[in-house]
Amino acid sequence: MVSTDTAALYLHPDRNIALELVRATEAAAIRSSPWIGRGDKLGADGAAVDAMRAFLGTVNFDGVVVIGEGEKDAAPMLFNGERVGNGRGPACDIAVDPIDGTSLTAAGRQNALSVIAVSDRGSMLDASSVFYMDKIVTDASGIGVVDIRKPIGENLRALAAAKGKQIGEMRVAVLNRPRHEQLIADIRAAGAGTRLISDGDVAGGINAARYDSRIDMCVGIGGSPEGITTACAIKALGGFMQGRLAPNDDAERARGEAAGLDCDQVYELDDLVKGDNTFFVATGVTDGELVDGVSRKGPIIRTESIVLRGKSGTIRRVLADHLAEKWLVDDLL
Ligand code: FBP
Repeated sequence: MVSTDTAALYLHPDRNIALELVRATEAAAIRSSPWIGRGDKLGADGAAVDAMRAFLGTVNFDGVVVIGEGEKDAAPMLFNGERVGNGRGPACDIAVDPIDGTSLTAAGRQNALSVIAVSDRGSMLDASSVFYMDKIVTDASGIGVVDIRKPIGENLRALAAAKGKQIGEMRVAVLNRPRHEQLIADIRAAGAGTRLISDGDVAGGINAARYDSRIDMCVGIGGSPEGITTACAIKALGGFMQGRLAPNDDAERARGEAAGLDCDQVYELDDLVKGDNTFFVATGVTDGELVDGVSRKGPIIRTESIVLRGKSGTIRRVLADHLAEKWLVDDLL
């Protein structure tokens, strides 16, 4: 007979799940590492997806993929609606991004992460029918101060005042894309500096919400899946986030609306993911500001991960040494 305490543990995701999930992002990062710098982003993504799926199958939970990755560019995917986990334990929504930064990985550039976020079943916004989302992320000082509807200069001045900083000290992470030309010009015209990122706005968002980072804000249009994943992390970091869907055309807007999305609505953090029972796990694929990437030291493969828990607000860093011979990475390419 299962005791009440044990039963309670199974009703909601708990810390053990987060620590099991980190094995899946570690596996995805390790198995994709032979592709770093090889110019083959589908090869890297495929290796990460396969490894993540295999490890997720061993985790004690009943997960449904709400946010899969890959539809945008027909990459290999853990598809939306796919059941993951061993079916025992808490009923959860799961967002997966086996590699956020497949192009970074293929090019051998910094900041690629393997990411999983988990929350209670039914709590994640299913934004999969609209590929892009306009986002704004800050730490807790942005709450009640910053608003995506306001001009960026106004937001930056207000956030700088709330943080007790000069505007010239403010650093804003933005994806370096032609669509952000005006945004970048406006940030600079306000007197703040940009941190242009070539990919990977999950790491950009987290860095904006961390208390010990040089980034004060992350703004601009990136993937909707990445927006939901980021929201799970921002909950644990106690930060601020808003998102507004950015359909490419009327057909996509209509698809989004048919799926129950409102492309004009500003989605607050709690609309993106309800409640505080969120988990976020990320392992570095390549080195970055958040975590180091996979490295090989003789017979050892080293990984670094972060594990965030919404309920407690705990941030754990997990450094792991894995025996290279067990992972057969030398035989992968
Ligand atoms: P992938 O790893 O799927 O290539 O995504 C990387 C990424 O930079 C995300 O971090 C970001 O949200 C999105 O792509 C931006 O999309 P686009 O490259 O089309 O501007």
